[in-house]
Amino acid sequence: MCGIVGYVGDRKAFPILVNGLKRLEYRGYDSSGVALSQNGEITLFKKQGMVKEMEDHALEHDTSGSSGIAHTRWATHGEPSDENSHPHLSNSGNLVLVHNGIIENYQSLKKLLLDKGYTFQSETDTEILVNLIQYVQEQESCELRKAVRLALTQVVGAYAICIYDKSYPEDIVVAKLGSPLVIGLGVNEKFIGSDATPFLEYTKEVIYLEDGEMASVSATEDLDIRLIDTNKEVDGKIHQLEMDLESIEKGGYDYFMMKEIYEQPRAIYDTFRGRLLADKGMIKMSGLEEYSDRFRTADRIIITACGTSWHSALVAEYLFEEFARVPVEVEYGSEFRYRNPIIRKNDIIIAISQSGETADTLAAIKMAKKAGALVFGICNVPGSTISREAHAGAYTHAGPEIGVASTKAFTSQITVLTMMALELGKIRGEFSTSEYRALLRELSVIPKKIETVLESIDLIEDIATQYKDATNALYLGRGVNFPIALEGALKLKEISYIHAEGYPAAEMKHGPIALIDENMPVFVVAPNNGHYEKLVSNVQEVKARSGKVIAVVTKGDTEIRNAADHVIEIPETLEALTPLLTVVPLQLLSYFIAVMRGCDVDRPRNLAKSVTVE
Ligand code: F6R
Repeated sequence: MCGIVGYVGDRKAFPILVNGLKRLEYRGYDSSGVALSQNGEITLFKKQGMVKEMEDHALEHDTSGSSGIAHTRWATHGEPSDENSHPHLSNSGNLVLVHNGIIENYQSLKKLLLDKGYTFQSETDTEILVNLIQYVQEQESCELRKAVRLALTQVVGAYAICIYDKSYPEDIVVAKLGSPLVIGLGVNEKFIGSDATPFLEYTKEVIYLEDGEMASVSATEDLDIRLIDTNKEVDGKIHQLEMDLESIEKGGYDYFMMKEIYEQPRAIYDTFRGRLLADKGMIKMSGLEEYSDRFRTADRIIITACGTSWHSALVAEYLFEEFARVPVEVEYGSEFRYRNPIIRKNDIIIAISQSGETADTLAAIKMAKKAGALVFGICNVPGSTISREAHAGAYTHAGPEIGVASTKAFTSQITVLTMMALELGKIRGEFSTSEYRALLRELSVIPKKIETVLESIDLIEDIATQYKDATNALYLGRGVNFPIALEGALKLKEISYIHAEGYPAAEMKHGPIALIDENMPVFVVAPNNGHYEKLVSNVQEVKARSGKVIAVVTKGDTEIRNAADHVIEIPETLEALTPLLTVVPLQLLSYFIAVMRGCDVDRPRNLAKSVTVE
């Protein structure tokens, strides 16, 4: 959470920093700020609210400086306010810092600094860090870089920081531990970002700083990267970005979320590209091939993730057990990392993360690596920390997902996991060639079937009008569509702020049925598969208590249609592939309900897209 941007070069820094912040707003958007170096001074602009508010305020003043640092915040220490916004100045007014992460031992550091006479304007841990650096610099009479290095050795927590001294504004010092930081290399200019989107139009050459590294970033000098603990020089590997600008713009849609829902057929084709060779009856996934023996002989697969990615892990549990007959356990990263779990060398850990930066998922895989397990990462963001930390992996290739509510990343994750489950089933000798080929053929036409689902948009918008004022909602599903009920409920609550719960349909009678009355919409995921007759009974049970039923059914369905208040049809497909279709109407329903309630669907309150703190 929190996004940071920096620039040194000949251009005017302000527009670069502000546009960069707007692209990073998905990381946090409760306040923002910019520090510019102008006329030998540091000019600060900080405002609670969206980046636009800070920008409008700054534009009433001189913003002509050609280097600076900037920040968009997701509050951890101290509520959103102008004072708590970054950048933060040190007491001397000479140092200015932006920070993404959490300084866990900030209280003891604060006490030390208070004892030395330091004062604080904000409630943030960041202001303590910048003053700690000032303190160390004064004690050691050293240059900024050394002071940063020594101060960071006293810090417990996670950080990506940019800091400069007002006397040397063309030299920005950056450091990273646990939060992401990328440096863009231009000709006589450099860019810094929490990811590469702030500077896509300027350079495609980037260096991802690794944990425990720091660097001096100046316009014309080569990067000087060092290890924080030993000061040993290290070489940074230059990566070429493949992302383009168009992929991070809205393309005529009102919200990124809608654009991303509509991009799903294309995103899934991109996930397939070069991997799903249905005509040849083959799946080629290099990450899997490299470790095919480990996968073939694995005793168990543990999948770890958070939020929506955890829901795709639950779908995968059904698929891996069905197709590959390998035992699967699904774990929240946050629970797994603190539970002292039993991890054996013959286990495989799959980590799923759109951003590839989620702190809990990352900590879970580090623990698994230590225990000797093979870690396989499924990430969307190229070069992200989890993708680099894993032994092997597969990118989802869904393209940048900007809307905070995950949509296309989810279906792309399920696509990767489905291909993996099928391939594992083949490696482990679980199907005949004809079965395998039939599955591949059906998977290859899923994007077309999603396009058909998207054609129901008017019906879905109409249904949304009727339930936009609900205060509660229940989502029911069974089997591989139980996780889709969870995902439908999560989508609704996170963007519309309606309380919603997902349940396995059969569990309804063990409690949630007490909630059902004429005001309770019940969304039932009921494609025509093995659980259909049981779902028909569940729908009857809801109707008998006057609940409203909105069901997602297979085209041609009659039984549920007769009982439900509304039905939304999906095309016929194999049961294992239905989640890729059934989730789409639920995404759209949440989207419309949230828009009708006046919510900012791309930036739901209190959320951030990349959760880099635990
Ligand atoms: C919900 C959503 C979150 C994320 C979760 C994990 O729409 O987006 O629940 O799924 O924060 O994020 P990643 O996948 O980046 O690890």
